[in-house]
Amino acid sequence: LQTLPPMQLADKYFQIFPEERDPLWQNPCHDKRHKDIWSKEKTCDRLPRFLVIGPQKTGTTALHSFLSLHPAITSSFPSLVTFEEIQFFSGPNYNNGIDWYMDFFPFPSNVSTDFMFEKSANYFDTEVAPKRAAALLSRAKILAVLINPADRAYSWYQHQRAHQDPMTVNHTFQEVVTARTASPRELLILQRRCLKPGAYATHLERWLHHYQPSQVHIVDGSQLRSNPALVMEGIQRFLGVTPIFNYTQALTYDESKGFWCQRVEGARPKCLGKSKGRKYSDMTPESRAFLTEHYREHNMELLRLLNRLGQPLPAWLREELQSSS
Ligand code: A3P
Repeated sequence: LQTLPPMQLADKYFQIFPEERDPLWQNPCHDKRHKDIWSKEKTCDRLPRFLVIGPQKTGTTALHSFLSLHPAITSSFPSLVTFEEIQFFSGPNYNNGIDWYMDFFPFPSNVSTDFMFEKSANYFDTEVAPKRAAALLSRAKILAVLINPADRAYSWYQHQRAHQDPMTVNHTFQEVVTARTASPRELLILQRRCLKPGAYATHLERWLHHYQPSQVHIVDGSQLRSNPALVMEGIQRFLGVTPIFNYTQALTYDESKGFWCQRVEGARPKCLGKSKGRKYSDMTPESRAFLTEHYREHNMELLRLLNRLGQPLPAWLREELQSSS
């Protein structure tokens, strides 16, 4: 019996099975054959029990910081590469493998009561993310934060502008959202990045293809902004985390920030940084009208989806559908 040297053998293998070129990491403890060859020093408990999947600009950083205040909830360590987020399931980091991913999590002290999580806001609308997440974290719970997609698009545009993205500096929001096929290619790319995450139902359906409805919780991002204590209570019940932490005491509204912040005994509240809760002018009525129309069918889809799941409708969705009917 003869065999090729390892590299050539691998080349041959992937010629025969090209679909296996892209890895799909599974939990080694879910398959006896994998567990048997998994190092004894390793544990499968160094993985998150829930994910905050985004989308971007809906209040995911606020949610991350509120969750981290909970005594039984532990966030992943911040990434030096992507600052805060790990962005494992959504991009090239996935090729670093599960040991790389697990290194972002502490060894759980008490597995049954410790809820570890990570938040990567681009998981929501990345095509491959749900499939990859479900392969490794089939029992995880999924939190998605939704605000009016028009406001989300505008906040994203302002975010890009604040980062001196030349296309947003040189084009008004109205020009970005109304760009047409004949517009410059870069403008169309920017428009797509701005608008696509707001097609909420399309992205959620992809997650629901891989996760049970009971594993998915939609967070009303507007309510998270106006009444975070109430929203955090609902999230704790969904996660089944105990004890129920009282966010009414932990949070305080900061007038100068204009947002809810962490209450600190005898000191000023600890708010999120300048890049969260930016000050900018209101969206023009023209852009709002355009986006209400643009998202109408998507929002109708979302309404049907939430009704199917038996999840409450966010107030912004009711209002948006009323104003566009
Ligand atoms: P703006 O800066 O456009 O107002 P993300 O963290 O997902 O990028 O979302 C950022 C948005 O979170 C902010 O967008 C802000 O409106 C919203 N937000 C909700 N609650 C907040 C809070 N307590 N502090 C700061 N921003 C909050």
